[in-house]
Amino acid sequence: MPDQDKENRVITGKEQPEDKNFDMNLRPQTLIEYVGQERTKENIKIAIEAAKKRKETIEHILLYGAPGLGKTTLAHIIANETGSNIKITSGPAIEKGGDLAAILTNLSEGDILFIDEIHRLNKTIEEILYPAMEDYALDIIIGKGPSARTLRIDLPRITIIGATTKASLLSAPLRDRFGMIYHLNFYDHSDIEKIINRNSRILNVDIDSASTKEIAARARRTPRVANRLLKRVRDYCEVRGTGSIKNKLCRDAFDMLEVDELGLDWIDRKILEIIIDKFSGGPVGLGTVAAATGEDISTVEEVYEPYLMQIGFLDRTPRGRIVTDIAYKHLGKKRMR
Ligand SMILES: Nc1ncnc2c1ncn2[C@@H]1O[C@H](COP(=O)(O)OP(=O)(O)OP(=O)(O)O)[C@@H](O)[C@H]1O
Ligand SMILES: [Mg+2]
Repeated sequence: MPDQDKENRVITGKEQPEDKNFDMNLRPQTLIEYVGQERTKENIKIAIEAAKKRKETIEHILLYGAPGLGKTTLAHIIANETGSNIKITSGPAIEKGGDLAAILTNLSEGDILFIDEIHRLNKTIEEILYPAMEDYALDIIIGKGPSARTLRIDLPRITIIGATTKASLLSAPLRDRFGMIYHLNFYDHSDIEKIINRNSRILNVDIDSASTKEIAARARRTPRVANRLLKRVRDYCEVRGTGSIKNKLCRDAFDMLEVDELGLDWIDRKILEIIIDKFSGGPVGLGTVAAATGEDISTVEEVYEPYLMQIGFLDRTPRGRIVTDIAYKHLGKKRMR
């Protein structure tokens, strides 16, 4: 069963190959279409208007938040709303100082450079970015040894938009050079429902309100997951029904996908069940959980645990992980002690 493949979880916030084309049509183009994140949107709106009034370029912006919450989308919207060209690169793609220098010198006044996964820029490249961000300048070192000297060349006034899922991995000097830093939050169910309704209209598919709620409940408060689930359910209803998304069919689709009412899949349930069955619900150390589930420690910590913690199913304590009462209830399990 392909959906049981760990690499290809239907509820993951990370981008999957199947998302690419599909998302293109659904990606909002303007701030008005961008659902939720009200405070961030308001701040960005003001910053754009102020920059326009002063005829200046907008400040450097850092966007951080979990995968699939809309960082890349927002960067494109900012470019769109300011009428700027956007050039896209990423931390791991810039291997040498020369790569970044080439990108920077090819930009024009007012352009936006979007650096995805900016926490993965290496240190020497980061240092090239500092004067570029602060003084719109590029320092080039000519020669070697004692006779080496620096030549400073001016760059056009550009805006850097950085995106990261791990703000904690960003160095303080880099973080400090951003004029605005926004944390994208997980979305409320009502916002996810809005996204599902909007996207059903774009896809020209009928959906009843119960099904909208069913999908929203399982989307892990993440737009990318909502879109992927909408697509899977639509496909199912097309094959098994008449194409409209109706409640009974929608539930059947999720039975087939093995995604429960809270958006947990079999791996989530397996992790909780192992802690319950083998370790009486904890506390149990992360390393032990990883070994018992046959996963890497970092995978358990970064991929599986965050959502379980966010919905209050798992607690992280100094003595180890503990499965909470509401998780026992959800799984229909009884605490043995
Ligand atoms: N606020 C929103 N309103 C409507 N749709 C959204 C919103 N945010 C994201 N989406 C949808 O979710 C998809 C994924 O968002 P996006 O690619 O911007 O996430 P990301 O934060 O850049 O993720 P990653 O960390 O994986 O790069 C978008 O293509 C878009 O369709
Ligand atoms: Mg992105």
